[in-house]
Amino acid sequence: MRFERHSLPASAYISQRFFEAEMSRVFPSSWVLAADLQEVASPGDFVTTVIGQEPVLVVRDTDGSLGAFSNVCPHRGSVIAVGTGNCKMAFKCPYHGWTFNTDGSLRGVPNRKGFDNQIKNDQLGLHSLRLGVWERFVFVNVDGSAPPLDSYLEDVPELLDQHGIKDLAAAVRIDDAIDVNWKLLVDNALDDYHLPEVHPNSLQPGLEGMKLQEYIGVRSTSILCMPLNKLGLEPYQIRANLRKEQSQSTYAIDVFPNLTIVALPDGGVSTLRFDPIDVRRTAIQFRSYSHSSQNNEVDDEAFLSTILKEDYEIVRRLQQGVLSQHFRPGPRHYLEGRLALFHASLIELLGEEPDLY
Ligand code: FES
Ligand SMILES: [Fe+2]
Repeated sequence: MRFERHSLPASAYISQRFFEAEMSRVFPSSWVLAADLQEVASPGDFVTTVIGQEPVLVVRDTDGSLGAFSNVCPHRGSVIAVGTGNCKMAFKCPYHGWTFNTDGSLRGVPNRKGFDNQIKNDQLGLHSLRLGVWERFVFVNVDGSAPPLDSYLEDVPELLDQHGIKDLAAAVRIDDAIDVNWKLLVDNALDDYHLPEVHPNSLQPGLEGMKLQEYIGVRSTSILCMPLNKLGLEPYQIRANLRKEQSQSTYAIDVFPNLTIVALPDGGVSTLRFDPIDVRRTAIQFRSYSHSSQNNEVDDEAFLSTILKEDYEIVRRLQQGVLSQHFRPGPRHYLEGRLALFHASLIELLGEEPDLY
């Protein structure tokens, strides 16, 4: 095994042991996008998700505050809530019917007298998780060890400070899953060298002749700045209050470990989240948000599906390629620099012990 300028070896994409280390050390120690503020606007509104392997519940309490909890019953460990919605006043575990308030505290226990020791409601609530909000995005840090969210996001909040992200309306939602390791999808989202070859008719026309520029953050973020040519700018109604550089560029932003944010000069924003299911299967959650109610969502959805399909085709090939006995990561183009940060951050967290790979 060799680590070529912070390139993960091929085995990192197929090793069960490496996957387990990611689940126990990478996802819990990171800030991971868990919900959109609009989904949890009213008391009782909740969103469930899984961060690494931690079932997570984000819920708006009856007092208006927002909380995040491990979505696991403290009795026998059943997952409690599923999907999204409004729980009214409480959550009920489907196994033995314990109920929990929207602040995570234990509310009721059926046939309570049957327990030898008295059940103390204040000691058996849901495990509370660290939660942070940036604009409309609710992040959760499962083990509580990440730096504060605003420093974790590095330069991103300032870069998008005029996009009006809080006021955007949800537009397109795509949920999918694909049989590849989650890092191949992240790698591909960070690989800025592939755009002309893989997306010649979808993305490339807007970029033709323009110089792409990568900005590498300190540890957890990186940014691709894509100045748009005239052709690319035409469909956009440039948002009025953007600073000059914001009004001329689309940004593709990576937030470690599994989030991509794309921000357009019309103020519109998309998020793309890659959630590992197992070592060779990954869920994909795409959300787009727009300022304009006149946007043609059907066209947008078709366009975005085309880009995703073009990428799926390639990442499936990469999954086959990492199984080769002979593959070693090759030289890196300047537009593959964001990949290096992603790999370096993973290696920093997990180390280079040969046993892992
Ligand atoms: S596991 Fe939840 S009530 Fe028993
Ligand atoms: Fe792509």
